[in-house]
Amino acid sequence: MEKEDVILIGETDLQRKSDVIVIGAGAAGMMAAIGAGKRGRSVVVLDHARAPGEKIRISGGGRCNFTNIHAGPKNFLSANPHFCKSALARFTPADFIAMVDRHGIAWHEKTLGQLFCDDSAKDIIRMLLAEMRMAGAVLHLGTEISGVEKTEVGFRVSTGEGHYEAVSLIVAAGGKSIPKMGATGFAYRLAEQFGLPVLETRPGLVPLTLDPGLLESIAPLAGIAAPAEIRHGRTGFREALLFTHRGLSGPAILQISSYWREGDEIVVAIEPDIDIAAHLKTAKQLNGRQSPQTALGDILPKRLAQFLVEREKISGNMADLPDKALLRLAAGVQNWAVKPSGSEGYRTAEVTLGGIDTAALDSRSMEAKAVPGLYFIGECVDVTGWLGGYNFQWAWASGFAAGEWA
Ligand code: FDA
Repeated sequence: MEKEDVILIGETDLQRKSDVIVIGAGAAGMMAAIGAGKRGRSVVVLDHARAPGEKIRISGGGRCNFTNIHAGPKNFLSANPHFCKSALARFTPADFIAMVDRHGIAWHEKTLGQLFCDDSAKDIIRMLLAEMRMAGAVLHLGTEISGVEKTEVGFRVSTGEGHYEAVSLIVAAGGKSIPKMGATGFAYRLAEQFGLPVLETRPGLVPLTLDPGLLESIAPLAGIAAPAEIRHGRTGFREALLFTHRGLSGPAILQISSYWREGDEIVVAIEPDIDIAAHLKTAKQLNGRQSPQTALGDILPKRLAQFLVEREKISGNMADLPDKALLRLAAGVQNWAVKPSGSEGYRTAEVTLGGIDTAALDSRSMEAKAVPGLYFIGECVDVTGWLGGYNFQWAWASGFAAGEWA
């Protein structure tokens, strides 16, 4: 946020003892603070960043895709796909929209149920800060945490500015994605300190990279986007595919990246709604003298059409090409098996897959079963949404759940 937008909430004298401490003033942490504060609990939110909700600020291209009206358990990846059901059912997209509407924030549906602010993602941050203020929650930014201990009555959090104590501790410190923005994996270390299992983490919603040979051949395509269906096993997403100078990106690739594992193949179908083979056969009948590049170029960007024809080593006019060659070309467009060499990693990943094992948490409250009073919410938990507002919906819902109990 710009400096004048940073709103510090609460007492200037640091509040040292409270009912609840929340670590992390991101989407989930602010939501939990609001809920707990509204229940009359005294709440202190600690964050090492200089501004709250930094990921909200940069999300959705600055307009924050704050929820998805179709959000349901099927849109989330987790070792236990049932875990997210309870929280998602008790705080729905409609509940968040009601809050947005109460604050007079204008929004629109872009596509596929994805809701964005008309103006700026900062409106969502201002709304959450206003709600926190109304709930009496206190926010301390720029607070480095050096340790967390269990006490007889709750938890002690040591910081550069001394100790904080509370009965309940809500950990909302996010995942590992975008380390440049302060993501540290702190929540996982804390979970391990308290004996909670942490499942292997990996970058999700991330562009995929290609090995140097393939990358060189697709280099001329960098910047080209096309509608596509990308499949990995039985999972497929129909959205845009984007060729980049590092490999493949665009919403369809980001979506499939959460399912892809090192060494796996993905299958790319460009323009999946068009019967390419039928189009090529018709083109051959109607204008045999045109080149296959031109025939394919009626549907696809010209450079992409040229690349695909050259890759199949097809030459001559349409009239010269046997139907077998046309079918091979069509398969190259709509059944292109690619083995990505890797992903761009946490540097650009929108989310972190894996994380705190949901088996260790109560799905109604997000409280650690073995450590009463300790809660984990948001991205650090092994619940990861698709691209399209689902991850914020999980942050709101899991934050709301903890706020109801802590
Ligand atoms: P989040 O990461 O938001 O917050 C964690 C907080 O904890 C931060 O404020 C951090 O400073 C603090 N923290 C971390 N370590 C700490 C420590 N050691 N001590 C103190 N504080 C600490 N999702 C979506 O639904 N719609 C969208 O449009 C987008 N767009 C998008 C764009 C980009 C570029 C990214 C990277 C991500 C998205 N996302 C998204 C995903 C979304 O941002 C993400 O799922 C949520 O921010 C997760 O919320 P949390 O509150 O769990 O973590």
